[in-house]
Amino acid sequence: MILNTYKKYAAIAALNYISFDSIIGIGSGSTISYFIQALSTIKDRVIGVISSSYNTTFILKKYGIKVFDLNTISTSITYIDSADEINNNMEVVKGGGAALTKEKIIASVSKKFVCIIDKTKQVNKLGFFPLPLEIIPISYSYIAQEIFKLGGIPKYRRGIITDNGNIIIDVYDLNLEFPILMENKINSLPGVVSVGLFSYRKPDLILIGAKNGVEIIK
Ligand code: 5RP
Repeated sequence: MILNTYKKYAAIAALNYISFDSIIGIGSGSTISYFIQALSTIKDRVIGVISSSYNTTFILKKYGIKVFDLNTISTSITYIDSADEINNNMEVVKGGGAALTKEKIIASVSKKFVCIIDKTKQVNKLGFFPLPLEIIPISYSYIAQEIFKLGGIPKYRRGIITDNGNIIIDVYDLNLEFPILMENKINSLPGVVSVGLFSYRKPDLILIGAKNGVEIIK
């Protein structure tokens, strides 16, 4: 599929933003799988990786790339991750792969966040892709009611338990015109572990894989 080719373009281009002998953070998902493949070709040039999910860790180990615990790292890191939607203000919706909490933590501590996407992820307005929330299971009914009050339609993501032992709600039809306000409102609900809006820690750089190669947005 052509989208996979675009994801690969962006993933390969991200190698240009990795410093030699550094530890990098990485996200989760299909674009990141392409990035890990690309990284494996230069794996001796990096010390290792901080992983955002069990799935990413599994793939990294398959390629013989060292994985570090974030708590043991004191050097600054560059974070490479993809997204489900990005608007023109570089605000992001993430969490389609249910790894949003660790992704947000690693993005937040990173010195540089490089986002790698295919062209279809670029949108004028966030909100077509349902907004993922990681929540504590006991809070489900309460949070669903609060989401209705905010104008959204919550849908329980069946069959998913996150790496942290929680559940995911996907929120449809939410007005995300002011992402920071919505991120604050949802974060203030008891039971919410993470909201998949990255409006505080936005990417510093976006690499967009498209028909004619890679477009860079700073
Ligand atoms: C995982 C994510 C992913 O970055 C997002 O879902 C994009 O995935 P893909 O690269 O498979 O399109 O947020 O939690």
